[in-house]
Amino acid sequence: MSTHSLKFKQTIVTDDVSLAAQRIRLGGLVAFPTETVFGLGANALDTEAVQRLFVAKGRPADNPLIVHVANPDDVRVLTSRIPSYAETLMEAFFPGPLTLVLPRAPIVPDITTAGLETVAIRMPDHEIALDLIRQSGMFIAAPSANRSGRPSPTTWEDVFEDLDGRIDLILKGTQTQFGLESTVVDCTGDFPVILRPGSVSLEELTAVQALTVYSDSSELSQRSPGTNHRHYQPNARVLLVPNPCLDDIPRDAAFIGLAGGFGAHLRYEAKSVADYAHHLFSFFRRCEKEGIRSIYCQKVPAVGIGRALMDRLERAAN
Ligand code: TXA
Ligand code: MG
Repeated sequence: MSTHSLKFKQTIVTDDVSLAAQRIRLGGLVAFPTETVFGLGANALDTEAVQRLFVAKGRPADNPLIVHVANPDDVRVLTSRIPSYAETLMEAFFPGPLTLVLPRAPIVPDITTAGLETVAIRMPDHEIALDLIRQSGMFIAAPSANRSGRPSPTTWEDVFEDLDGRIDLILKGTQTQFGLESTVVDCTGDFPVILRPGSVSLEELTAVQALTVYSDSSELSQRSPGTNHRHYQPNARVLLVPNPCLDDIPRDAAFIGLAGGFGAHLRYEAKSVADYAHHLFSFFRRCEKEGIRSIYCQKVPAVGIGRALMDRLERAAN
């Protein structure tokens, strides 16, 4: 991490959920595992705590946060209207890697939603995350627990690398299951609109709600302003290569993909697209530690989880 980052506190690393819950109640910042990536949590209704969260991450103020709940009924407290198709999605995917964007209730502060009239909500499918939310008795606003612009963390060590000295506590847990973030779906119109592809695929969504679509890019920057910013980028050049990969990979570079890339200094051959997604961000961070300057990433077909993987690869390469 950058050496000029200002450290201001001792970060506790622990398995103690009750201590973490206490920190949340006191307005502190707590990183915790979820099934997607690690989140950096604060009391979603505490303006000052959320303000500190934006500062710790270096996050632009126009990028709203996802509020995490431990009970589907809590969605009612945070929103003013829930269309019936959103209820159907909740029944099918809560708990799980799906985030719903709904009209917000007045109790949700401006800072949490970046001034939008909507609020993003999800119920994580992870014991530690749910335990933390329940024990704190709070709704927990949590972006991914990386410094803004960097790859999302999939282990507590990744969080430590980015945020040691900037947050109160890290709950350890193990490497996250999916490795890519949740799917963000706007539920303010007549049918669901995907704002960010993620760990729940379009195919899984349309099996439950046939009329689910991807937003087009102009609609996206309007409904989800934060998506314009730099994202997922390691301290190395990311280059996309086709599958099959016919070009030679330079000997001092790294390769991640489904097949090929022989001769690369560091190489990860994934067993499946899901396995590729699971390992992508941790591979980026490993390349950084080994001082690798170029990471060659193989493209995959943009179907199923492949759509979210291609989204992250394209943003990392941008
Ligand atoms: O899997 C995940 O979603 C992880 C874990 C920790 O839950 N969280 C996560 O948060 O990825 P973050 O802050 O890195 O990404 C949140 C995404 C951004 O694309 C943001 O623009 C969008 O959700 N978002 C949040 N609130 C929104 C709103 N009210 N309207 C539209 N988009 C929103
Ligand atoms: Mg993020």
